[in-house]
Amino acid sequence: MSEKTPLTSEATPLRHVAFIMDGNGRWAKKRGMPREYGHTFGVKAFRAIVEHCGKLGLEAATFYAFSTENWKRPPREVNAIMKLMDTYLAECEKKLDQYAFRLVFLGDKSVFDEKRRAKMERLEELTKDRSRILNIALNYGGRSEIVTACNRLLAKGKESVTEADFNAALYTAESPEPDLIIRTGGDLRISNFLLWQAAYAELYFTDTLWPDFGPADLDIAIDEFNKRKRRFGGV
Ligand code: IPE
Ligand code: IPE
Ligand code: MG
Repeated sequence: MSEKTPLTSEATPLRHVAFIMDGNGRWAKKRGMPREYGHTFGVKAFRAIVEHCGKLGLEAATFYAFSTENWKRPPREVNAIMKLMDTYLAECEKKLDQYAFRLVFLGDKSVFDEKRRAKMERLEELTKDRSRILNIALNYGGRSEIVTACNRLLAKGKESVTEADFNAALYTAESPEPDLIIRTGGDLRISNFLLWQAAYAELYFTDTLWPDFGPADLDIAIDEFNKRKRRFGGV
């Protein structure tokens, strides 16, 4: 996972790709299966994409796994997602050496029980010296992140802040800004993801449902990204 291949032209360097992994429920429904079944296959797709991001030499990859609004779902589905998450955390710990990435969990961890939170924090601690970042957004909401950042700055006694102060107070403080945000599942919205950080991200939407999204689909999205002309407000 540490192999680096050149990704992009100089004009559009691609350092950070973020994913809104959507469509697991519909994928399962199409197969006459419960939504949880879709999440199980969603994790398989996630693993393959993480591995591919490693091969591509990205500096950061971010995955939206569970939003602050996803608690509204039926308890059965939420429990299934939490179980999948626990399995993944255990897997990460076991295979830590095979991972090129520093693990960072974006979101408010205080809602998780002590055991799960400790596991997340341990993984963050064990990988903290690695330079490339894998952000997993769990109980993440862009608005909540912004309010949390404000409160962190207030607690420090700040009365006025710069953009740099603000960036440093976000969950994503260690990552470059996302260059490309990919949403699967066909919906054309952001759903409370990286609201501040997405200011100049290129957005890519595909109808492909997340469990069907594979490394070749990511390559297609990157090809499209490479064709875009980013102006950042200039000419
Ligand atoms: C995304 O898939 C995964 C999570 C939000 C946890 P969905 O579960 O939202 O799948 P759809 O959008 O209902 O198909
Ligand atoms: C966004 O998907 C959240 C994640 C992928 C974790 P949702 O399925 O929750 O988004 P909406 O409800 O369609 O906006
Ligand atoms: Mg959805």
